[in-house]
Amino acid sequence: MSFHFVQMADPQFGMFASVSRYTDEDVAKRRARGLNVRKAPAPITGFADETRLYTAAIESVNRLRPAFAVVCGDMVHDASDQSQIEELFRVSALLDDDIPLHFVSGNHDVGEAPTSESLAIYRERFGSDSYSFDCGDCHFAVINSSVAFDPVNVPLEWRRLTQFLIDDLSAARRRGAQHIVLFTHHPLFERSADEIGSGWCVPAERRDEIVSILRDYGASAVFAGHMHMNQYAEDAGLMMVTTGAVGYPLGEDPSGIRVVSMREDAITHRYYGVDSTPEAMP
Ligand SMILES: [Fe+2]
Repeated sequence: MSFHFVQMADPQFGMFASVSRYTDEDVAKRRARGLNVRKAPAPITGFADETRLYTAAIESVNRLRPAFAVVCGDMVHDASDQSQIEELFRVSALLDDDIPLHFVSGNHDVGEAPTSESLAIYRERFGSDSYSFDCGDCHFAVINSSVAFDPVNVPLEWRRLTQFLIDDLSAARRRGAQHIVLFTHHPLFERSADEIGSGWCVPAERRDEIVSILRDYGASAVFAGHMHMNQYAEDAGLMMVTTGAVGYPLGEDPSGIRVVSMREDAITHRYYGVDSTPEAMP
């Protein structure tokens, strides 16, 4: 059985306004790190840009009619700003009722080093941050990669996360899942699964534990966001796809969405700018 899903990442309501307050020095510093930050002509308030982009993305999903859609984290820029949360949910509700929408927690949603309080607020708003679902003969698991990024305040949550993955993926494997796919916010690696690691990814020590579980149960692919730019890697059969932002882009590609095709023999995918999505599933 084959089907499509749409992956989105980082609608991040409030980021355009935040970037618009950068000084020339702030912009220069980020550009020196390879981030495509542009100096805004004037300070921005609110989130009209994010509303336009995420609405265009959701309208594309309605037209493409995938089996489901997923947002891989950083739904908002400032999780304490209720207006950003409300706008995220208002636009999300424009999605057709028969297309399931899955959320993945990002560092802007739960903090760089999550706390029990930030996790409780997230779970109240979005539901569980570690969960899974099946579609067709495939299995999809979602984890809170911010816990893996820095569990200093919630060490037990990190142990819960790895136990969840072991229990969940082993059960999926026993059931004979055709593909096992992981959704996270932080990528696990940028080029190879044994790299020293950059500040973008889950740190090597905990990345190694997650990758080892993925390998034990034969996971095919990981889809992430966080970098606001597209990046692709593969390591010993494990595909690592990092998808650019629906919101503010930090790479060369525009704000966009990814269409993923799940077939028995292969997982293929393609990124589209929100203003150049296809009329129907390719
Ligand atoms: Fe992020």
